[in-house]
Amino acid sequence: MEQFYRRDGVGNAIVTGPSGVGKSHLTYGLARFMNEQFKVYDNPRSILFVSVVSLFNKVEESFSIDNGFSKAKMVDLLTKVDYLFLDDLGKESRKDGNKAKNEWRHQLLYEVLDNRHNTIINTNLSSEQIKNLYADDFGNGALSSRILEGVMGNSFVYPKDMQDRRY
Ligand SMILES: Nc1ncnc2c1ncn2[C@@H]1O[C@H](COP(=O)(O)OP(=O)(O)OP(=O)(O)O)[C@@H](O)[C@H]1O
Ligand SMILES: [Mg+2]
Repeated sequence: MEQFYRRDGVGNAIVTGPSGVGKSHLTYGLARFMNEQFKVYDNPRSILFVSVVSLFNKVEESFSIDNGFSKAKMVDLLTKVDYLFLDDLGKESRKDGNKAKNEWRHQLLYEVLDNRHNTIINTNLSSEQIKNLYADDFGNGALSSRILEGVMGNSFVYPKDMQDRRY
């Protein structure tokens, strides 16, 4: 994955697996490593690692108080960065079909992902679950296809029966 991006590969990457197997640990390490490598090769790029839960909580908070995390600001920031890491995609959404709650969240994700490449995602969801979860507001799979854009060859799936490192 790191070599793919170091050679200027373009596309998203996805790391999928059960809770606690080390997806956040692995991708955070990758973000730091890529940052170092780009510096070593005298080719600095901007890299941002974002927890989707914290991001959406901050943006939601900005609806009532000016905390500097407005939707427009976040879309701008997340769109411009060269490599964006999204930690735990899916955790921001409600799976019980609470459409009103998901709507602005999915809109934000769509705006970001439609305007950028090279997003490295980690999630508990399989690609089938991603297609289902993000099918609601943007029928015909517009959002899920942007999430899964170019992941072929850059997807890493932890085994379903892998041990949780937290226990
Ligand atoms: N390679 C590793 N070496 C040492 N500790 C690790 C390693 N990978 C993960 N851990 C530790 O195991 C725990 C779980 O890892 P992590 O949070 O990355 O899991 P996760 O797959 O992101 O889980 P979730 O889906 O719940 O977010 C953390 O405390 C992490 O520090
Ligand atoms: Mg995690």
